[in-house]
Amino acid sequence: MTVIPVKMKKTVLVSGGVGFIGSHVTVELIEAGYDVVVADNFSNCDRTCYEGVKKITGREDIPLVEMDFCDLAAVRKIFADYPIDAVIHFAAFKAVGESVAKPLMYYRNNLTSFLNVLEAAQEKGGVNVLFSSSATVYGEPDAVPVTENTPRKPATSPYGNTKTMCEDILRDTVKASGGALKGILLRYFNPIGAHPSALIGELPRGVPNNLVPYITQTAVGKRECLSIFGNDYPTEDGTCLRDYIDIVDLAKAHVFAVTRMVEGKMKQDCEVFNIGTGRPVSVLELVNAFEKVNGVKVPHKFAPRRAGDVTAIWADPTLANEEMGWKATRSVEETLAAAWAWEKHLAGK
Ligand code: UD1
Repeated sequence: MTVIPVKMKKTVLVSGGVGFIGSHVTVELIEAGYDVVVADNFSNCDRTCYEGVKKITGREDIPLVEMDFCDLAAVRKIFADYPIDAVIHFAAFKAVGESVAKPLMYYRNNLTSFLNVLEAAQEKGGVNVLFSSSATVYGEPDAVPVTENTPRKPATSPYGNTKTMCEDILRDTVKASGGALKGILLRYFNPIGAHPSALIGELPRGVPNNLVPYITQTAVGKRECLSIFGNDYPTEDGTCLRDYIDIVDLAKAHVFAVTRMVEGKMKQDCEVFNIGTGRPVSVLELVNAFEKVNGVKVPHKFAPRRAGDVTAIWADPTLANEEMGWKATRSVEETLAAAWAWEKHLAGK
């Protein structure tokens, strides 16, 4: 699937642009012909990913602004300094467990930064806003796969709650702007993998919370054994089902969404899209697929269920496929091979 290049030169601000998703999105935007301004406070990422983005794109001139989106003056300044047509907001905390322990830190950071982006975008006028939401807003769904019309459920963590709240804040702000602001909410399922160049990927600090970094770190010998949380779920093999989406496929969805906004193709002022594959994969299947495709063992054992986990969730991506023209293309095997190449790159192997 080729991304249609943007017709006119447009500038996109990517907040949290050095993070896992932000860095891959920056690459895809640049390759589609956008000018990108990257902004980050490096609270949970490493400058090496910015260097990786420059290497992949062959561009030395990508502006990088070190700033905190909770600082309204700094946010106003970046909107004044660059001709921003669209902003993609990633800058947020994302560890579910930490958010339960430190709710105020999560609410303060994730809400304030987004309020500041909207404030500055509103003052400037004519800015399109893309918010990175999550399938977490569906909670434990009554039926799968979930469409964008599946009712949202109360979040099981302050982190999840900030996603639901930011969705509502964007909707209300777009509505009140009378057409001056447009917004798209992308609800991601489980982004995994790394860029095929192995120059950028996920860089979790400390012990990973998410499954794939835990798998790759176990395979490389950094962790002793992967715990599979629960094998007594009402699924075929007893482990949870998720919709694992390749990070490059996910990044390309942002290019489709931004182009839809800047080219005035939106059908509503605030739109929502599920970004997933439509393919459920169990934890055990994922571990087995990783071992098979990479020819490496992942020592694992079954452990009790993890609090807050849902049994099964995967996307119905029809709306994104048909309305945006975007579709996930990579197989789970390709994605797991890329994740392993990145882990080996980190280990210097
Ligand atoms: C979580 C968040 C989601 C967020 C996503 C980011 C919730 C409930 N979930 O999704 O909002 O967008 O991370 O990637 O808010 N697992 C193990 N062993 C491990 C780690 C995970 O068995 O060491 C299992 C989990 O029980 C789960 C699956 O792997 O069944 C996926 O877990 P994870 O990668 O953490 O993602 P989610 O919890 O689905």
